Amino acid sequence: MIQNPAEKLLYEVSAPGRRCLRLPTLDVPKVDIKHALKGAKLRAKPAVLPEVGELDLVRHFKNLAQMNFSVDRNFYPLGSCTMKYNPKINVTLLSLPGFTKAHPHLPEADLQGHIELMVTLETWLREISGLDAVTLQPAAGAQGEMTGLMVIKAYLESRGEAKTRTKIVIPDSAHGTNPATAALAGFDTVTLKSKPDGGVDLEALKAAVGPDTAAMMITNPSTLGVIEPNMVEIAKILHAAGAQLYMDGANMNAIQGVVRPGDLGIDVMHFNLHKTYSVPHGSGGPGAGPIAVRKHLEPFLPYPRPVKTDKGYTLSNPNPKQTIGKVRSFFGNYGALVMAYIYMAQLGREGVRRNGENATLNANYLRAALRGVYHIHNDKTCAHEVVFTDKKQHEENDISALDIAKRMIDYGIHPMTIYFPQPNVVAGHGAMMVEPTETESKETLDYFVDVMKKIAQECKDNPDLVHNAPHTTPVARVDEKSATTNPQLYCAICIA
Ligand SMILES: Cc1ncc(COP(=O)(O)O)c(C=O)c1O
Repeated sequence: MIQNPAEKLLYEVSAPGRRCLRLPTLDVPKVDIKHALKGAKLRAKPAVLPEVGELDLVRHFKNLAQMNFSVDRNFYPLGSCTMKYNPKINVTLLSLPGFTKAHPHLPEADLQGHIELMVTLETWLREISGLDAVTLQPAAGAQGEMTGLMVIKAYLESRGEAKTRTKIVIPDSAHGTNPATAALAGFDTVTLKSKPDGGVDLEALKAAVGPDTAAMMITNPSTLGVIEPNMVEIAKILHAAGAQLYMDGANMNAIQGVVRPGDLGIDVMHFNLHKTYSVPHGSGGPGAGPIAVRKHLEPFLPYPRPVKTDKGYTLSNPNPKQTIGKVRSFFGNYGALVMAYIYMAQLGREGVRRNGENATLNANYLRAALRGVYHIHNDKTCAHEVVFTDKKQHEENDISALDIAKRMIDYGIHPMTIYFPQPNVVAGHGAMMVEPTETESKETLDYFVDVMKKIAQECKDNPDLVHNAPHTTPVARVDEKSATTNPQLYCAICIA
């Protein structure tokens, strides 16, 4: 097979003595490296590195970069992950020297603008949440959850209830991090089975809560794209039992500016700034998961707290005895906070609300446009995401959600989230969860609809085409399970 050298490994195009750069002949005394780096662990033999010219190197990495799929190049409708477009101005402004050259150890007088930014961001998040106090410190959604539960635990300890209130009730529609966090925070979890429409079963909830309940953690809108209709009633049940109500607000994109969780009775919630407020993220970071709490929980928040005083902005530790301490160094993931601030400042109050409305509208547009083409799990008005399944294609042509997702790649669309929600939640079918977000135009959504219709037709006319997709990528089907469970991360040439 003829292979373009630009697509080969650098080791494969390496030739002895080839260089990107030739240094001039040494005109200073030679230094014995062993002597200069006394005590350092030096290699016995030089590392085997590829030897290539600059153009080969540039082409190699340019080619790799072109193979990367990103929201900047194509539609990326992952469910439950909010891969929305991140305006370039976020990074442009964050790159200003005032931000890049700031150091957290600067004297407070030199940090005034930064502290003001954090105070303002907290104010906006307070307003959106309808709660009383915010900390920006947690660096991810899951860390926000952890911080929220630590705050609840500290509150229970202050009331002498920490030993008795040990359980966290979690609906099965919650995000996976919720039970994981509860367990990590030292609580026992009680799983609540959702009703067929995805909502909380109030009778089951009443039976599940009691004097041993510390809190309920609810993801709202849920990971099924369902807005819980009985939040107020749920809050009453929890509060009547003396327990707290935690809301996973990572899906705030659907309801921001429309509903304030605090008005529904929530005591603690976290935001995923990297999902809702357009901070580029992926593969675990960088993110920001601020939490908002009701007044009675404020004394337990992490420190320092950015505040405004008569003398200016300051970082204070208002309640050193009760605070849970720091959960992240300095002020949290500050760059992520700045980008979220820039994004929100541009949108304004109306823009934030419009985002929520348009995210919801776009998901419902896709739901309506593909009705009858793919089976829809719970075909009712959805929130920010819609769950299709492979039921029809599987029954008619033995095509799975995985096949359909792989075929999408051939049309330049990133596969949606598949098999989540898990088959037991969607009657044994393969879920295909789509979150278009508000940033996609009608033209892009229509292209997606056309592609999905075309694939549905291909499933009937030429099932093998879909079975064997993708056809346009360097590799087609990889063994994803083994790649995750048994990764072989080595370079055969280097160890030869
Ligand atoms: C609903 C929900 N909760 C929590 C999280 C966890 O957030 P993070 O990945 O920032 O820890 C996510 C992440 O996608 C989420 O979708």
